[in-house]
Amino acid sequence: MKRIGVYTSGGDAPGMNAAIRAVVRVSIAQNLEVYGITAGYLGMLENEMNPLQLRDMANIIQRGGTILKTARSTEMMKPEGRTKAATNLKNLGIDALVCIGGDGSFRGAHALWEEHQIPIVGVPGTIDNDIFGSDKTIGFDTAVNTALEAIDRIRDTAASHDRLFIVEVMGRNSGFIASYVGLAGGAEEIFTPENVASVDKSIERIKESIRRGKTSSILITAEGQKPGRAYDLADAIRKKSGMDAKVCILGHQQRGGSPTAADRILASRMGAAAVDALMHGQCDIMIGTEGERLVQVPLDLVTKNEKKTQMDLLSLASVLAT
Ligand code: F6P
Repeated sequence: MKRIGVYTSGGDAPGMNAAIRAVVRVSIAQNLEVYGITAGYLGMLENEMNPLQLRDMANIIQRGGTILKTARSTEMMKPEGRTKAATNLKNLGIDALVCIGGDGSFRGAHALWEEHQIPIVGVPGTIDNDIFGSDKTIGFDTAVNTALEAIDRIRDTAASHDRLFIVEVMGRNSGFIASYVGLAGGAEEIFTPENVASVDKSIERIKESIRRGKTSSILITAEGQKPGRAYDLADAIRKKSGMDAKVCILGHQQRGGSPTAADRILASRMGAAAVDALMHGQCDIMIGTEGERLVQVPLDLVTKNEKKTQMDLLSLASVLAT
């Protein structure tokens, strides 16, 4: 192995730059050449791949987003797209890849290995934390802290006006951000895709808390298939109880910002471990975490299984927010 390619794919996540930096610097320390592939699979398809040097990595560990850019490619879902990408990679002499992204990106990576024998190691980067085989993904900690800061501010105004707020966080099919933020922010109710709490029960709980003297409440909901779920909830609460609910959708601000120390460290360790695995002839795996320990998980397992939100966090949040 002489030359490896690195790319970021899917939704960006704070800490992706720290992972790119680790991949590039560890590779160069091992006398490997590294190519940065622009905008994930699009760059492979359009031959947007360029050599990266040590100095290209200067001052990026603290930056959100991804210097390599990212995209969601539909062409890579088709065999013809993958053949084109594999041909372009081989023509450039790229022997192996590090893919930083989520489960959609890993499906493409696994297929490139299966169909074209291009060795790939995955590094889980998504704010959603929904990747099977890894306790934590790069960007999740930052996104949770960003959302939490917003919720703390909303709490101030909710308390001043005695209001009910519904705050919508990201996490299309997963409730990790909602449950962590809900527990850490003292939310009165948390709605996740796995736990669609009943509106009637929530209204009852809010009324009960008002009887006990509570004057303001914050409900957290994960966005669901598309943003806007919070508005449906507010409407339902209004119609069923007459209570007014203010809606706040936190949206893409959760994807940006400087990564937390935890994300920078996780990304640095995972990026380095990915290169190390390739150097040892391992591939078609993802670097994950089990507690503090780094583990290797076959991509096939990662892409075929779902990681579920910890329901105990929801019940704990519910008891603590009385
Ligand atoms: O997967 C990360 C994520 O931010 C999800 O939480 C969200 O549903 C989705 O990406 C939004 O994607 P896009 O920025 O492409 O609209």
